[in-house]
Amino acid sequence: MSHFVLGVTGASGSIYATRTAMYLQRFGHEVTLIVTHPGKQVLEYEDQSALFDYCKDVCNVDDFFAECASGSSDIAGMAVVPCSMGTLGRIAAGTSDNLLVRAADVCLKERRPLVIVPREMPYNLIHIENMKHVTLAGAVVIPASPQFYCKPQSVEELVDTVVAKILKHLGVEQSLVASVAKVWSGEL
Ligand SMILES: Cc1cc2nc3c(=O)[nH]c(=O)nc-3n(C[C@H](O)[C@H](O)[C@H](O)COP(=O)(O)O)c2cc1C
Repeated sequence: MSHFVLGVTGASGSIYATRTAMYLQRFGHEVTLIVTHPGKQVLEYEDQSALFDYCKDVCNVDDFFAECASGSSDIAGMAVVPCSMGTLGRIAAGTSDNLLVRAADVCLKERRPLVIVPREMPYNLIHIENMKHVTLAGAVVIPASPQFYCKPQSVEELVDTVVAKILKHLGVEQSLVASVAKVWSGEL
């Protein structure tokens, strides 16, 4: 059992966060949730309040006394899902000005997995430069770009193609989505 932080921002696509938390819980892991103020509004707007059911605890985004604000915590890794361009910029600049951004900064400094799932289109050069910065600092950028070749039958199955990548890069063993090999070999 590992302990992960899930950061949720005001970008669209909160269903990615819900299903990431759902699978982490299902596979026996603990999730500490941090939601930005715009993130709360978008979560509600996108009808994803079920997210809270899959999390062990929820930290206030302004609470720097939370465990995940410290490098001494037992956090195994963090995913920022979905990540707004605003939060991406703050992580890239190392501002640590709210708990979500601080927890991401801690993961980078402690060399723990940090998965960032940006959601915007199109990207401007500032967004692209910020993705470059966080990648050079050790984060893995996984755009919310679902794959279609395993023929998903529902929105949830489509979302899970991205969630599978998030879990993989957090180091969580799973087989949510059929491998490309199965698709090419005609098994699917
Ligand atoms: C319905 C809705 C959808 C949004 N979608 C996005 C998005 O996909 N990407 C993005 O960068 N910002 C998006 N925004 C704007 C962010 O919420 C806004 O930039 C906010 O300041 C981000 O703050 P945060 O990074 O602290 O969560 C959206 C706002 C609303 C109301």
